[in-house]
Amino acid sequence: MKKITIVGVGRVGESTAQILAKEELCRELMLLDIHDGVPQGVALDIQESGALLRFDTRVNGDTDPAAMADSDMVIITAGIPRKPGMSRSDVLDTNLKIIDGIVDNMLRYAPKAMLLMVTNPVDVLTWHAWKKSGWPRHRVFGQSGALDTARMATFIALETGYSIKDISPLVLGGHGDAMVPMTRFTDIAGINIEHFLDSKTIAEIVERTRKGGGEILNLKKNSSAYDSPAAAVAAMIDAISHNRRRIMPCIGILDGEYDQHDMAMGVPAVLDETGLIKIIELNLNEQERADFQKSAEMVRADINRLS
Ligand code: 2OP
Repeated sequence: MKKITIVGVGRVGESTAQILAKEELCRELMLLDIHDGVPQGVALDIQESGALLRFDTRVNGDTDPAAMADSDMVIITAGIPRKPGMSRSDVLDTNLKIIDGIVDNMLRYAPKAMLLMVTNPVDVLTWHAWKKSGWPRHRVFGQSGALDTARMATFIALETGYSIKDISPLVLGGHGDAMVPMTRFTDIAGINIEHFLDSKTIAEIVERTRKGGGEILNLKKNSSAYDSPAAAVAAMIDAISHNRRRIMPCIGILDGEYDQHDMAMGVPAVLDETGLIKIIELNLNEQERADFQKSAEMVRADINRLS
């Protein structure tokens, strides 16, 4: 990609920018924020690290939304984070207004871009941005599964002692406490985790994955996670930038898949240079279908609040 814009230079935005710049996933990175000085300062700081980390990515910062012009991709990380005790849905009303303004700017200045939503509650805001933009669904998607599977992989690696590189989990559903870690589709080097872990340990890993974001927030108290969310965004951008056709769980717009219509949720999807080009439908068993449905109802409740 030639140009990527990150809107919102908080901790997730800054961490994401560092990785994208270092990995040279685009030629130009534009950081946008409403707080004058912040995007410019962060951009300069990252740019100066390039002399040591050896990258040529050009990093600029601005407060003028027109600076997103000609972006191939806009990543939205702007918004207020939740505080301990809050759910992701508790920040919906505030973040909705912020996202509305950003989508208006995208329609004006970057009408051909792809949109990657990171701001919470990410499922409903992905859906809202897609509705508001009127763009085809392959160009509007969200991050959550990459992060949730990374957390599940980490917990499995810690428990078994095996390399994280061989662990391949799958987490579907909404990015909330009702997300659906899919143990039947989770393996270590092709061998299902039930071969290595007893059912009690697997259940604990599932629960810890569901509450993974809250665990970090409760420890840090004044900040949500940002290093692993940024790495998750970068993994998606890497797949798109290199046209890898990677299969990753992403928040996609559902149009009948998994019996959901006019909805956005985490599903296995194929990412190529044009965006989220395919949703993979799995044959879920009864329990998995019920869990997915429960997660969908929670996302739907937020969507209904907007309609
Ligand atoms: C998380 O799960 C902030 O939603 C983000 O850490």
